[in-house]
This record gives sequence, structure tokens and C-alpha cells, in this order.
Amino acid sequence: MTQDELKQAVAQAAVDYIAQHAPEGATIGVGTGSTANFFIDALVALKPRIGAAVASSEATRKRLEGHGFKVFDLNAVARMPIYVDGADEIDPGFAMIKGGGGALTREKIVAAVADTFVCICDASKQVDILGKFPLPLEVIPMARAQVERELIALGGKPVLREGFTTDNGNIILDVHGLSIGKPTELESALNQIVGIVTNGLFARRSADVLLLGTSDGVVTLTK
Ligand code: A5P
Repeated sequence: MTQDELKQAVAQAAVDYIAQHAPEGATIGVGTGSTANFFIDALVALKPRIGAAVASSEATRKRLEGHGFKVFDLNAVARMPIYVDGADEIDPGFAMIKGGGGALTREKIVAAVADTFVCICDASKQVDILGKFPLPLEVIPMARAQVERELIALGGKPVLREGFTTDNGNIILDVHGLSIGKPTELESALNQIVGIVTNGLFARRSADVLLLGTSDGVVTLTK
């Protein structure tokens, strides 16, 4: 199977998961990225059962609206049963690195409102220790140099994502060279650095369900 076929398979598995677990008319949280795009396309088959969606980026909002889904502002939603999104890396405790597409801040906010985080990815994203994929940080532009110094002190090598601006008008620093054995602790430490809007560690709110695309089919793993 190609990587796109694996992504399509996990996207369909997420739609099946929603059909089984979400109440009729539920609002569904929708992630960002190439796997999430396959999920949005596959979700069309379930449209009559979906009340509305909440998007984690402008790109996702446009794709959902293009398919005719109602998209709510998150402030209008107190609770949603399921949030579906991809990941750049996921460890055995279901902590993730996210933000390869730069949407980490809105992804983390929408995920915080969901009861169940369903991660969809292919087996290449599974790792024992997070950090080979550079950790994205969304940073206020004026804080860039100071945040870089803080990250260097932590042993990382921050690299500015050239020519990229987030949906919130900020920059992304991709931090190379971290081996993240204690993701919850590092996420909390990064949360304390002024100027970082959001870090791409999803450990405090990790995934609950992993739909993993393998050459033998989709495997469902729960925490
Ligand atoms: C978007 O900012 C990211 O968090 C994505 O969810 C992540 O990069 C996975 O993207 P792909 O599905 O394109 O690999």
C-alpha cells in the first residue's frame, strides 16, 4: 500500500468510529493535514448524521465548507464527543508531536474541548521516543530571538520556518535535536517560556484512540 492508501484507510476507519461512537447530530472536531483531509473527504458519506464540525485551521474550515458541512466557531460549542486528527509522531503512551502543518495552536485548543481524541496515522509515525521529527513551536514574532536562546539552553536547535505565518499571525520555530523521554514534563516547561504561544507536544492531552494504518490493515489501539 502507498502512504496515501494507508491515510485513506485510517480516514475511513475514523468515519466508521464516529458512526459507532458519536450520537446522531453530534459536533465533530476536525484536525489539519493530509490525513485529516482524507478524513474530511470520507466524512461526506456520514454527513446526514453529523450536526456540525469545528475546524482546527482555516484550511480545514474551507475544505469542510466546500463539502457542505456546517462549521461552528469553537466558542459556540461547550462539548464535542470526538476530535479526529493526524500526528507527526506518536509514542507508546500516545503522546504526540504535532504542528508539521503549523496548525498546532488551534488543534490543541479544539482537542481540549473533545471527550475523545482519535489519532489517525500510518505506522511510520509510531516511535519509541519523540523528537526525531523537529518539535514545532508557535511563537510571537517579537519573541523569536529570546525563545531561540531558551531552546538552545534546553539542548535544542531551533530553526525558523521560512516564509510561514500561522492562522494566528505568528511564526513557527522547528526545534531539532531533542530526545523527548518525558513529554509531559517538557510540554509543561515549554508552557512556561514567554513568547511561545503553543508547543507541539500533545502529552498532557494525548490521544485516547489510535487508528494505525499498517500493511496488514488498520489496527485500533486504545490507551
Ligand atoms: C498540522 O499542524 C499537524 O499537526 C498535522 O496533524 C500533522 O502534521 C500530521 O499531518 P499529516 O497527516 O499531513 O502527516
